[in-house]
Amino acid sequence: MKSPTQTLREEHRVILRALVLVEVATARLSGGRALPDGWWEGLLEWLRAFADRNHHAKEEECLFPALAQAGVPAAGGPVGVMLEEHTEGRALIQAMAEGYVDRRGEAARRYVHLLRDHIDKENGVLLPLADAVLDSQAELLVARGFEKVEAEQGPAASIEHAEAAVERLAAALGD
Ligand SMILES: [Fe+2]
Repeated sequence: MKSPTQTLREEHRVILRALVLVEVATARLSGGRALPDGWWEGLLEWLRAFADRNHHAKEEECLFPALAQAGVPAAGGPVGVMLEEHTEGRALIQAMAEGYVDRRGEAARRYVHLLRDHIDKENGVLLPLADAVLDSQAELLVARGFEKVEAEQGPAASIEHAEAAVERLAAALGD
């Protein structure tokens, strides 16, 4: 079985790919060029469904409680920072859905910056910490929790589905 941190790292790779598309689309908008019909909405739905409801839920509902159980404080420290950034990310996705195009573009730029930095911290600090403190039984429980999150969200939550959806967005953008 894949370790939970390996699953999260693979999901980070797909999210980083989507962030490149956010950047390309934002550059187009600021250059006054239109995006394909429905593209921006499709992107936002992808970010909500995969980056937030699926990936961040796995961290918040499964990994962080397991870390707390293993003695890593839930408030403050790296977990507290990750939670704050998840909240900030949700607000920025909302801002990307509202208001004028230039405001959306500004929110998108901030979102890309936030998430890249966030993923760097998770890959560099939080996941190595999890590998160090979770024993194999705790890892198994987290992995089962991940399966439950995916089962609740249906087949669209799988990484294969999410990756295919990103590639369709990329193709529609001509990137
Ligand atoms: Fe993450």
